[in-house]
Order: sequence, then C-alpha cells, then structure tokens
Amino acid sequence: MSAPNKSYDPVEVEALKPEEIERMRDEALAAFAAAGDLDALQEAKVAHTGGTSPLALANREIGALPPHAKADAGKRVGQARGAVNKALAARQTELEAERDARVLVEEAVDVTLPYDRVPAGARHPLTTMMERVSDVFVSMGYEIAEGPEVEAEWFNFDALNFTPDHPARQMQDTFFVQGAKGADSDGESGVVLRTHTSPVQARALLDREPPVYVVCPGRVYRTDELDATHTPVFHQIELLAVDEGLTMADLKGTLDHMVQSLFGADMKTRLRPNYFPFTEPSAEMDMLCYVCKGESVGNPDRSCRTCSSEGWIELGGCGMVNPRVLIACGVDPEKYSGFAFGFGIERMLMFRHNVEDMRDMVEGDVRFTRPFGMEI
Ligand code: DAH
Repeated sequence: MSAPNKSYDPVEVEALKPEEIERMRDEALAAFAAAGDLDALQEAKVAHTGGTSPLALANREIGALPPHAKADAGKRVGQARGAVNKALAARQTELEAERDARVLVEEAVDVTLPYDRVPAGARHPLTTMMERVSDVFVSMGYEIAEGPEVEAEWFNFDALNFTPDHPARQMQDTFFVQGAKGADSDGESGVVLRTHTSPVQARALLDREPPVYVVCPGRVYRTDELDATHTPVFHQIELLAVDEGLTMADLKGTLDHMVQSLFGADMKTRLRPNYFPFTEPSAEMDMLCYVCKGESVGNPDRSCRTCSSEGWIELGGCGMVNPRVLIACGVDPEKYSGFAFGFGIERMLMFRHNVEDMRDMVEGDVRFTRPFGMEI
C-alpha cells in the first residue's frame, strides 16, 4: 500500500492556483460591472456563477487535493465565490433601481392633461319632436307612412284637388325640378320638391285598402329666404284617417288627445273656418296656450309672451278629407269618410322651447342641440 503523497502540491492543479482564482473572480466582477441591464446581468450570472462557470469547475477540483491542501484551496475558492455573489447581488439591486426609475418616467401618466375623447353628439330637437308626436299616434294604432321629398306634381297638387291655376303652384312657393328642354319637351318635368307632407295622404290611400290610419312626418321645401321665422327646408307632420262613419267629432277628439299627450291633461283645441283644397270643410286648428291656459286674455296683470296674451296658439290646418281626393285615390266617398291635419314642427319647437330664431335649428351647431340631447 503506498503512503499518501505528502509532496503533492496543490498549485499543480492549474485551476486552483491563487492567481487563477483571482483572475476568475475579477473577470466575474468586471462582467457584472459591464452588464448594462438586467438581461445582460442574467447572462453574466449564468456564465460566472452557473454550474459550468470557471469557479464552479475549480470548486470541483478541490476534491482531488490531499486533505491538508483542501482547506486552503476551499477557502480561496469560497472567498472568491462569496465576493462574486455579493457583487452580483449589488449589481442586481442597482440595475433594478435604474429600471424602476426609468419605467416611472417612461410610463408616467399626466393626470392634469385635458382628456381627448370625442365629445358625444346630440339628437336634433326636430327629430325628437317628430318622434314624440308620431309616438302619440302610434300608441293609438296609427301607422307611420313616408313618401319621397322629390315628388310628382300630381301627388303634391292634382290628387289633392289643387286646380292647375292654384296660387300654391306658382314659382314663389314651389321648387320645380327642371326637365330636359328639347324638340318634344318644354323643360317641365312634372316633378317638384314637395311643398307639404299632404301628398303622402294620396300615396297612403293608393297603397292600402281602407280603413287607413297613418301619420307622416317629413321634410318639405318652399322658396322662402332663411331668416328668423322662415326656412326653405322645414318639417311637417301629417295625419290621415279614412274609415266608415268618421266625422268632425273624431277629428276634434284626436286633436284634443294629441295636445293633451304633448302638453298636459288640461289642454284643448279649437277650430276656426278656413279653406284648403283637399279638405271640406276645412279649419285652422289652435291649441290653448300651454303657458297661461288662456288666463292672460283681457288680463293686463297676467300678460303672456308665448301667446301674446291671445290665449290660443295656432297649430296648423285640418278638415274632413274632400271627396274629390278620395275619388282621385280610388276610395268610394259614399262608403268612406276621413279627416286629416298637418302642422309644422319648427313652429311647435319654437313656442314649446322658446326658440326665437329658426336659423338656430338649421345651422347644426351642437351648442344649440346639446341641451335637448337628453330628451327621448
Ligand atoms: N298641407 C297644408 C300646408 O302645408 C297643411 C294641412 C292643412 C294639412 C289641412 C292637412 C289639412 O292635412 O287637412 O299648409
């Protein structure tokens, strides 16, 4: 049995030489110092403290040393690894602090900046008002009917018993659509921009078999200049009921129901004689002033701006459908009768919401529409 090799010199194991251990330690420290971010530090960590790092490999060599040399070498390697781990932890803390500071700056939110959401729009009060009025009739069983804004003269006038020389046909009221001028054409197209929603009455009667109960909201055109009380494009609501046995009492009851639904239970309407070609008899319809309820009449202490102390507000026209209209639309006037009315939405909006200038309704400025926006 051979004696232990007392003359074994640990420095002969290359990796365990003190200067080698020092070099490994210094390389590790330099690599950590050079790591510019946490990713780079992670790479340096694997290279210098991992299972195959020079110091780990050197550590494994210790086992091969004779006992008296093990302690020395173990101490040297242990100290070097301790210094490396300490430097790694310090650099880790440093780089984490740097990252946190950078993220705080990069991802900072300035809560004092003005918000840049697209502001919500608002529904136009004319639309809301038309829907509100239509709803009153829909809940009574009426159907919504629509017609074209570019309308045949026949529907706009002839079917409604306007004679060819009726003043409403003349240029000062009606926008005529120009036709082609040629050898066999005088440039008259027979087409107009509808001047009222009444042509929808004729369309509805031709489309359906009586009984007919329709309400027709829509846009109409007249050759007016835009000013505080006129606009060439405006809106009307038309109503038509054709059935067996309808009378003026049904018309009056329907009008009263409408103003009560829109303005309150104590409202009423009154009729004054008038003339329209498509109704006979015809009437102008007024509603009780919803502000003073008529109390301003003859009462100087209680003057009313809404109705100019007249007690009534003019709404529009109405009447019993002229039998000539029924005949033009193929309805037997011996069997059926009907009533109709029509009025302007702009006017109703003006007095209901104290809008003083019609141009506000036309211009589309959201500052005008927004206060109405919550109305359903
Ligand atoms: N179309 C008429 C106008 O624009 C209003 C009107 C009057 C409609 C009498 C009707 C009615 O339905 O019966 O002035």
